[in-house]
Amino acid sequence: MYIISKEAQAFLNATVLAPKNKIETVALVGPAGCGKTSLVFEVAQQLNTKPSHVVTLMCSKDVTVHDISTSKTVEDGNVKEIVSPVLENMCRDNSVTYLDEFMSLPADVAVHLNSMLDHRKEVTLPNGKTYKRGKQAIVFLSSNPIGYAGVKRQHGGFMDRFPTLKMGYIDGEDKLLQSAFPNVPKPDTMRLAQFAKLIRTSQRTKESRTECSTRSLLMMCNMIENGCDMSTALHACLNVPQDEFAAVAEMAKLAMGAEVFKDDKGDETIDLFAEKDKKNKTLETELKTANETIAGLNDKIAQLKGLIS
Ligand SMILES: Nc1ncnc2c1ncn2[C@@H]1O[C@H](COP(=O)(O)OP(=O)(O)OP(=O)(O)O)[C@@H](O)[C@H]1O
Ligand SMILES: [Mg+2]
Repeated sequence: MYIISKEAQAFLNATVLAPKNKIETVALVGPAGCGKTSLVFEVAQQLNTKPSHVVTLMCSKDVTVHDISTSKTVEDGNVKEIVSPVLENMCRDNSVTYLDEFMSLPADVAVHLNSMLDHRKEVTLPNGKTYKRGKQAIVFLSSNPIGYAGVKRQHGGFMDRFPTLKMGYIDGEDKLLQSAFPNVPKPDTMRLAQFAKLIRTSQRTKESRTECSTRSLLMMCNMIENGCDMSTALHACLNVPQDEFAAVAEMAKLAMGAEVFKDDKGDETIDLFAEKDKKNKTLETELKTANETIAGLNDKIAQLKGLIS
């Protein structure tokens, strides 16, 4: 099961899934394990792309221009030109080409893709041969956001050639965990999803560097389903900097101790702050009673003062 957010669906409907005037090159940018790669394969499936017509290039600084164009080899004394799998696939009809971690592509290599990725949809190589994009030859590029370890910025002129979907972790991760690991108790999947939200909030506000991806949550559930307890699974699947152990343990305690209850609509839900809210309400009532008592006593004092005269 792939859960798609409203924003992602709207983006795809207006680009690669549009019934006409498709935009066939798009980028996906989002944190580790948020579902970029799975989204590419989900779209490939929705478009009924043959598995042999889905080609991935893992980009890195070591990718050369030959990996996206052609290279020469000598066979039986003759020089032979070999078309790279990526170029070959981009020229195929009904194909999906996936350039994963494209920000890692050296800028002088990326530039060779320019004409293939924009409205020209073709590239002419130094040998004079022109390669044209196939019909419905989708190209996905994906990356972690700038600022992630090792992610540098790609040239603006390159980025200008395609729309980018900025992805985040989906809402309803508990439903995903439940469907992937039905033997894990439902309240535990809800607690894990809440824990992930806490971690991400403190990461967003720069209080913490610990990350908790959908991938980590799925691994935790896998371990729990295999008989492991929550806290062992949590420690095994999260990469927590040493100075954040205590803070993360505190968040885990808060999330794992949360009770599941039924909301107004009768749906099961979990509220980490329900306990705190209840305590605050009691204190507010006590304060109100104390204030009323004080007001009553003040009246009495005023009355007595009047009598003394
Ligand atoms: N929206 C989602 N629906 C279903 N599964 C998801 C979703 N998001 C993530 N996952 C699951 O989480 C795991 C990680 O997802 P994926 O590999 O697609 O992430 P990614 O963004 O490509 O990560 P990375 O940046 O590390 O390459 C996969 O097992 C995938 O099935
Ligand atoms: Mg990926």
